Amino acid sequence: MVLDQFAGGGTTLVEAKLLNRDIIGIDINDGALERCREKVSFDYEPAKGKVYIKKGDARNLDSIPDESIDLICTHPPYADIIKYSDGIDGDLSQLKVKDFLEQMKPVAAECYRVLKKGKFCAILMGDTRQKGCMIPMSFDVMKIFQDAGFTLKETIIKEQHNCKATGYWKTNSVKYNFLLIAHEYLFVFRK
Ligand SMILES: C[S@@+](CC[C@H](N)C(=O)[O-])C[C@H]1O[C@@H](n2cnc3c(N)ncnc32)[C@H](O)[C@@H]1O
Repeated sequence: MVLDQFAGGGTTLVEAKLLNRDIIGIDINDGALERCREKVSFDYEPAKGKVYIKKGDARNLDSIPDESIDLICTHPPYADIIKYSDGIDGDLSQLKVKDFLEQMKPVAAECYRVLKKGKFCAILMGDTRQKGCMIPMSFDVMKIFQDAGFTLKETIIKEQHNCKATGYWKTNSVKYNFLLIAHEYLFVFRK
């Protein structure tokens, strides 16, 4: 049983179904849940994974028993870089970095509670920039998950292809072969 508690547009749900994994998809936004239902309602004979879609809050997964999940694979908002609603109560994409990080503590605690011992929790996170300075909030999230009890098994870098960079930095980063924020981190934790 896989869990994606920030299900969004339903990518993880579709892939789980295709890979014959059962999955629970949770989101706080009815619009996202509607999209998830549309995305997974395809017929493809070899895809036998069952998809359970529920409305909920990643900070309180009380419908999921302790140590019942085999894999968590999820993608929270990156604080308020992209707002996923116009102000739904509990939507973490409404929060500035400091408050967002505070709210990721109960998210990490719930991940730890519902996951079986020895199993993996994969979290995709990105960084941001404020007033010209780099804010490495993905590493803050990594630390929050370690503090919740997880060990870090792997850090995987995922290239982003839709980054906006100003002409100066774009030209120079290509010319001198370095990368600015052009990636996200997939942190793979083990309980
Ligand atoms: C980065 S998107 C997920 C994208 C998804 N991986 C996809 O492929 O479309 C983050 C999602 O988290 C949801 N969200 C924000 N706060 C939440 C909360 N407290 N509990 C559950 N979902 C939340 C948002 O509604 C949004 O759909």
